[in-house]
Amino acid sequence: MENIGIIGIGGWGRNLLRTMRNLAGSNLTMACDLDSKRTSAAEHTYPGLITTQRPEDILENDDIKAVVIATPPSSHYELASKAMKNGKDVLVEKPLALSVSDGEKLLKESEELDRILMVGHIMVYHPATLYLKDLIKSGELGDIRYIYSSRVNLGKVRSIENSWWSFAPHDISIILYLLDAPLVRASSTGAAYLQDGIEDVVFTTLEFGDGIIAHIHVSWLDPHKERKVTIVGSKKMVVFDDTEATEKIRIYDKGADRNLDYDTYGEYMSIRSGDIVIPRIPGGEPLAAECTHFLKCIETREKPRSDGRAGLITLRALDAAQRSLGQGGAPVEIKA
Ligand SMILES: NC(=O)c1ccc[n+]([C@@H]2O[C@H](COP(=O)([O-])OP(=O)(O)OC[C@H]3O[C@@H](n4cnc5c(N)ncnc54)[C@H](O)[C@@H]3O)[C@@H](O)[C@H]2O)c1
Repeated sequence: MENIGIIGIGGWGRNLLRTMRNLAGSNLTMACDLDSKRTSAAEHTYPGLITTQRPEDILENDDIKAVVIATPPSSHYELASKAMKNGKDVLVEKPLALSVSDGEKLLKESEELDRILMVGHIMVYHPATLYLKDLIKSGELGDIRYIYSSRVNLGKVRSIENSWWSFAPHDISIILYLLDAPLVRASSTGAAYLQDGIEDVVFTTLEFGDGIIAHIHVSWLDPHKERKVTIVGSKKMVVFDDTEATEKIRIYDKGADRNLDYDTYGEYMSIRSGDIVIPRIPGGEPLAAECTHFLKCIETREKPRSDGRAGLITLRALDAAQRSLGQGGAPVEIKA
């Protein structure tokens, strides 16, 4: 297996480092962080791991064939671009970049240089998301009508990106993965209470080409911890609650149907309220599945499930909603 390096071993990078080091068949040999406390701690935990405070030691190292980037989003473009130009495959944390033009450049570079560009959209490696995808494909839910999700809790308040850029990549990536419809428009409202210009709470509506709408609520200023996605289909409805330890998915045989042959209004509309099914979802840590997928893509050269294109569409949604926030909630079109 090719040698892998990681750049950024802070709060989240530490998890990627641990997961990559524990995976059979993975060869993560070098770790970089600007902060020497982080590199010393990593050296101590993983004997034999080579550490550095200079990203170039990894980016310009011919023995390293793939790089995991878990630095703050402002450095994603520069580090991912340099890594690919130096012949390396890349797994970059979400969001792919901070501007749509940087995201477009990264996608183009990955195609021209024939490098794997994967974005850390961890939720598309979650067994429950994969279950939902199969459920929708099987037709059991009928036509998808709308989706809403909430990702709220109290804390970790960030000071560079707002709650939208911090949390919503998860919700957007789930929704885009589940729906085959094109995303056309975003409108967003939100408010900054704790820090000037950094929204703590954001409510966004995404509109898709065939009439499906999706609503996302994110906040780090909320009394609840919620990680929930509700999908309403023409036949059935389903809720994915990621805060549940085991019963993460509930399928509701509920709906409303119009009868064409009716005499009274009561007969015109019939409400169905049948069984609730809680399916068994296979276990497995999403981050381990994500890292395993990256290793497989490096080997087989297949496109990652969360490839540069998925990263770019997510980025376009993030950007359109942010512009809408700045325009008092006016709808902003999203380029196809
Ligand atoms: N997938 C997830 O569930 C998830 C969860 C949290 C964070 N993230 C993502 O992970 C990334 C990092 O977030 P975090 O919470 O770990 O941030 P963090 O601030 O805790 O850690 C970032 C680390 O990167 C280091 N760093 C910064 N610039 C660097 C550079 N140029 N070269 C080398 N090291 C550098 C910092 O010293 C720090 O240790 C972000 O993109 C974030 O969106 C993903």
